[in-house]
Amino acid sequence: MQQQFNPKNENILVSINGKLVPRHEAKVSVFDSSVQGGDAVWEGLRVYHGRIFCLDEHLTRLHESAHAMMFTGIPGKEEIKQAIFETLQANGMRDETHIRLTLTRGEKITSGMDPRLNQKGCTLIVLAEWKKPLYGDKGVTLITSSVRRNSPMNIDSKIHHNNLINNILAKIEANIAGADDALMLDVHGFVSETNACNIFMIKEGKLITPHADACLPGITRRKVLELAGSMNIPTIEKNISLTEMYNAETVFTTGTMGELTPVDGIDGRRIMNSTVSGIFSRIQQGFNLLTKTAGEKLPF
Ligand SMILES: Cc1ncc(COP(=O)(O)O)c(C=O)c1O
Repeated sequence: MQQQFNPKNENILVSINGKLVPRHEAKVSVFDSSVQGGDAVWEGLRVYHGRIFCLDEHLTRLHESAHAMMFTGIPGKEEIKQAIFETLQANGMRDETHIRLTLTRGEKITSGMDPRLNQKGCTLIVLAEWKKPLYGDKGVTLITSSVRRNSPMNIDSKIHHNNLINNILAKIEANIAGADDALMLDVHGFVSETNACNIFMIKEGKLITPHADACLPGITRRKVLELAGSMNIPTIEKNISLTEMYNAETVFTTGTMGELTPVDGIDGRRIMNSTVSGIFSRIQQGFNLLTKTAGEKLPF
């Protein structure tokens, strides 16, 4: 699944520290921490039907990531919301939009790793693009990557940081294998998530997902668990082996970029994606309804 350039995004305006600039002038300094060390945190958000889905949850995760990274001069939620609203309004975006929200440690006084070199506060980037859910209605294929997902022993996945090399190396393996994405295991060999999404399986009427120990605690993941709970579908968070995944009735991924996407195959094993239980379609319908009602309304 390769994204293509959308000509509608040719002339978009991007907000950098509250200033709106055309796409081709939207740049950060070579002294910015994101350039120097991937030293930044980010969120991906979606705009549906004039609403930003789960805006508050995303801003809380951004703040918690920035706090864990000990950024200084972190902009408040209201300031970030204003920057997002201004960007969307300037681009006339009320639907079918994806926002890449990035907060870096900011510009350094000289190149180097030490956060004490950051004396100007954070850099806030709001990049909103016209972008439909990535995977469309089709299912995806996965291969298992040889790259293990970060554990809390090295980089805690609960920090949603820009140091994406772990995921990118896995994605390269998927590209070379001709698969859509890579399934990543944790250090113990249990399924963690894909290089870009959380993962679920359905078996014998139960919705099962890995513990959020070595994966991002995704906001879509949480919504899916809540929806299942409200539908009295039993949910289990547990260690899952590859063999269990291969033999699931249904496997699907979750994430803001691709919403809920069925997985058709893993490592050449076909996933049945049985519709008998109806669990996947009920949750997907519930999620689609939520995107129409549960977001923060745009003030314009
Ligand atoms: C590695 C990874 N897993 C899962 C997700 C899905 O998270 P969310 O549902 O909050 O978009 C993302 C999204 O950025 C991600 O980067």
